[in-house]
Amino acid sequence: MNNKEHWEKVYDTKQPNEVSWTQAVPHASIALIKNSHLPKDAAIIDIGGGDSHLVDYLLKEGFTDISVLDISSKAIERAQKRLGDKANKVTWIVSDILDFVPTKKYDCWHDRAAFHFLTKEDDIEYYKDLVAVSVLKTLIIGTFSDHGPKKCSGLEVSQYNPESLYQVFGNCFNLEESIIEDHETPFNTLQNFVFCRMQKN
Ligand SMILES: C[S@@+](CC[C@H](N)C(=O)[O-])C[C@H]1O[C@@H](n2cnc3c(N)ncnc32)[C@H](O)[C@@H]1O
Repeated sequence: MNNKEHWEKVYDTKQPNEVSWTQAVPHASIALIKNSHLPKDAAIIDIGGGDSHLVDYLLKEGFTDISVLDISSKAIERAQKRLGDKANKVTWIVSDILDFVPTKKYDCWHDRAAFHFLTKEDDIEYYKDLVAVSVLKTLIIGTFSDHGPKKCSGLEVSQYNPESLYQVFGNCFNLEESIIEDHETPFNTLQNFVFCRMQKN
């Protein structure tokens, strides 16, 4: 099964309470977006957004240029269905991040638990270069920390800490702040995440 088939199957067969990453309120992401002091017309993209509620928060806050990208069309459909008419205010992109060719630049690039699936050096390098040319201001990345799980959804992940995330992106970004968070899964287990907010230098 390839990567896209894996994720389509996940969203076809599992409910939000059956996958570890579900969170009612994406607190760390919201805190870091608030600290970015973005204007309401800032172009914001959520990479591997799945059916995360981050887009609901961004709409509620009045952001007007929101994009959500995911490899799974089923994930996007689920988010669209949840939002109803409000989904029309969002640009939805079904793409593998490694095939994504942005047609614009983004003021804020957010990624919770998608980047960490890249385990090959070439793929990490590709993502880093994509971010370097596509992000104008703020980069927010959340991954499993080096005290977190080694797998997510049955797939190997790369673990990080603030220093190693900075090592990946530090050529173009300054590290402004980091958050270490124990995410409580729907099965009442804990997953240690690291989030970094970086600003383009
Ligand atoms: C662990 S989930 C996290 C979902 C969401 N960010 C959240 O915080 O709830 C990972 C998401 O990344 C997507 N994904 C995985 N690999 C991807 C890739 N190469 N390109 C784009 N999306 C990908 C999956 O479909 C899934 O929705």
